[in-house]
Amino acid sequence: MTIENAPAMPDAPGSAIGDPALEPTATRSGSEWWRSATIYQIYPRSFADSNGDGIGDLPGITSRLDALAELGIDAIWLSPFYTSPQNDAGYDVADYEDVDPLFGTLADFDRMLHEAHELELKVIVDLVPNHSSSAHRWFQEALASAPGSIERARYIFRDGKGENGELPPNDWQSVFGGDAWTRVTAADGGPGQWYLHLFDRSQPDFDWSNPWVRERFDGILRFWLDRGVDGFRVDVAHGMVKADGLPDWKPAEGAGSMGGAGGVPLSPEIEDSDETPATTPPYWAQEGVHDIFRQWRRVLDEYDGDRMLCAEAWVDPLTKLAQWVRPDEMDQAFNFSYLETGWSASALRAVIDDSISAFGSVGAPSTWVLSNHDVVRHASRLALTAPNPQGAGVGPNSAGQPIPELGLRRARAASLIMLSLPGSAYIYQGEELGLPEVVDLPDEARQDPTFHRTNGDKYGRDGCRVPIPWESSAPAYGFNTTGESWLPQPPEWAELARDVQAGEVDSTLELYRAALSARDTARLGLGELVWLDGYSSDVLAFVNNGIAVFANLGTEPVELPLGTVVVSSDDLDGASLPADTAVWMQLD
Ligand code: GLC
Repeated sequence: MTIENAPAMPDAPGSAIGDPALEPTATRSGSEWWRSATIYQIYPRSFADSNGDGIGDLPGITSRLDALAELGIDAIWLSPFYTSPQNDAGYDVADYEDVDPLFGTLADFDRMLHEAHELELKVIVDLVPNHSSSAHRWFQEALASAPGSIERARYIFRDGKGENGELPPNDWQSVFGGDAWTRVTAADGGPGQWYLHLFDRSQPDFDWSNPWVRERFDGILRFWLDRGVDGFRVDVAHGMVKADGLPDWKPAEGAGSMGGAGGVPLSPEIEDSDETPATTPPYWAQEGVHDIFRQWRRVLDEYDGDRMLCAEAWVDPLTKLAQWVRPDEMDQAFNFSYLETGWSASALRAVIDDSISAFGSVGAPSTWVLSNHDVVRHASRLALTAPNPQGAGVGPNSAGQPIPELGLRRARAASLIMLSLPGSAYIYQGEELGLPEVVDLPDEARQDPTFHRTNGDKYGRDGCRVPIPWESSAPAYGFNTTGESWLPQPPEWAELARDVQAGEVDSTLELYRAALSARDTARLGLGELVWLDGYSSDVLAFVNNGIAVFANLGTEPVELPLGTVVVSSDDLDGASLPADTAVWMQLD
């Protein structure tokens, strides 16, 4: 077997993407730690609960930071812990500059941040700029003010259509199901204007054409930067600007509700185009969002060190998503094209190449992600037997139930592939334990607004949000000491608890530890991927910084070259790589 040279990378195409004045060489000073970092997502409600009320909190996180440092990650990202009525699990923020009592206090946050930094872990917090909670003072003031007032101009209020304004201003649908407009009561007690909410009705969208909104968010960024955070994950970073005139829009059949293709391949013409596809909804991926990020970049650059921005933007194709990470905008964007790629070696190879090339063309690292709090956990998703659009979730009556053993086997191989790639990788809490999606949550326990707004038609995202198991024989598996849990934990999780897996060579936890350690030693995050020829189309085979990676996504065993195994996702069969297995090797 021979190792071929890397395919030539395309020339840096300031030409293909965005402003030619922004050459990829214009990188910022500092360590740029985020280029190769492994970043662990903490979902605070479900990580560790110090006061036993069944909902995780900041002191809980602080108490478990050691375990994360030991795992070998570089940074943590915390989903929202701000003041919130929790209608969308904290993504409905009522005060951007305070901690909800459910999660603790600002002092608890400062302590957590300090401890994390002591352990050399960077800390990224969530910024939710597309919408606030309807409980936010700004929205309450808007409701109490007259149509046309400066208070109403903070949000998107419009008169209704129809003779008496009884119809919504346009036909947009909420991501969570149902109309994207809600009518308010006027001062005289009669029906009034309508406001836009791309998500739940308790999440009114801001009007980002209003400078007042922009200034407030500059202040919010500074508030957290002053406290010492290392960056922000930006929620719905493709939704903040809406097309002029708010034109009607019907999404294409099978399109993801968050934008992007939702796992449905785009036509080749669209994939190859740098233009906004004609299919871009008037509320996603509008050009105006980029000015906002340029302003935020300026705010972050006022600070010392390497403060970073990561976009949650469901944008296809990758060449368009790369516009989010031009040198004067954000640093990273979640690679949902990668996450949504099925278990196919040729499809993965294509998306890996496209990612490295698209992000590389603007001087940004690619990111890699397999799970988060919005998608079916990859230990289940990779063994679903029917299509499952993002947000649909899996419940007891879903078609195509996941096959647990196959799912875990593939998930371990998929994680090993992900952690071998150059760039930055995101790990969602619990995936290092091989946790599956919890499919059989009772309806009464489900809290995702998606479930309620679609009358149970979509199960939603609760199945990936169940509190994680730490100790197999403790109450709530060590999530707290009272046994309370805001979503019920399945009995099978006793066997998956961290203490059961620690020290067990074959466990998923030890697989992650070994992979993260080898990734660090070989500096894979900063490496360059070179494909190896001579393997079947069911196999991924490449070298990155001296580590050869092989993954068998077919059904037949694959002969491996001579060398030393660094880490493998499952047992090898002599010198052959079984189906649904990945291995890292040092070749002879
Ligand atoms: C993002 C979050 C998701 C939330 C939505 C609305 O997609 O990840 O959890 O429901 O935005 O804020």
